[in-house]
Amino acid sequence: MKGGALDPATVMEAARAAASRAYAPYSNFHVGAAILTRGGTLHPGSNVENASYGLSICAERNAVTTMATAEPEDREIELVAVFSPNASPCFPCGACRQVLREFGCKEVVVEDDQGLRRYPFDQILPNSFGPEDL
Ligand code: THU
Repeated sequence: MKGGALDPATVMEAARAAASRAYAPYSNFHVGAAILTRGGTLHPGSNVENASYGLSICAERNAVTTMATAEPEDREIELVAVFSPNASPCFPCGACRQVLREFGCKEVVVEDDQGLRRYPFDQILPNSFGPEDL
C-alpha cells in the first residue's frame, strides 16, 4: 500500500488490522505490525505460527520480509507500529529488533491505554550491531 503523508496513527491502524489476521492457534497471542518505509509505502505483517512451534514467525519479521521483497529501492524503515489485543503495549521481541535494525528502522510505535507511544529506535536497541559494522 502506498500512501500520501502517512502518520503514526494511520500506521498503527494498519498494525491493528494485521493483528486481526494473525494465525496464532497455539499461543492465541495475536500480533500485527506495519512498516512505513522512507518512500512512504506501508507493509503489514502478522504472526504466523506452526504446529512445529519453533517455526512460528513474528508479525514484525513477516512485515520486514514483505517489505524487502516488494521494492528493492525502498527498503529503509521509517517506522514500525506494533499492536496486539493481548498486550498493551506490545513491544517487538529481541530477534525482531535486530531484524528491524538491518533496514535502518528509526522509530517504534506502540499503543497503550493512554494512546500511541513513540520510541526512537536507539532506545529500543541501544549500541546495536548493523550492516555498517561489517
Ligand atoms: N510475537 C510477535 O509476533 N511479535 C513479537 O514481538 C512478540 C511475539 C508472536 C510470536 C508468537 O506467535 C506469539 O506472539 C507468542 O509469543
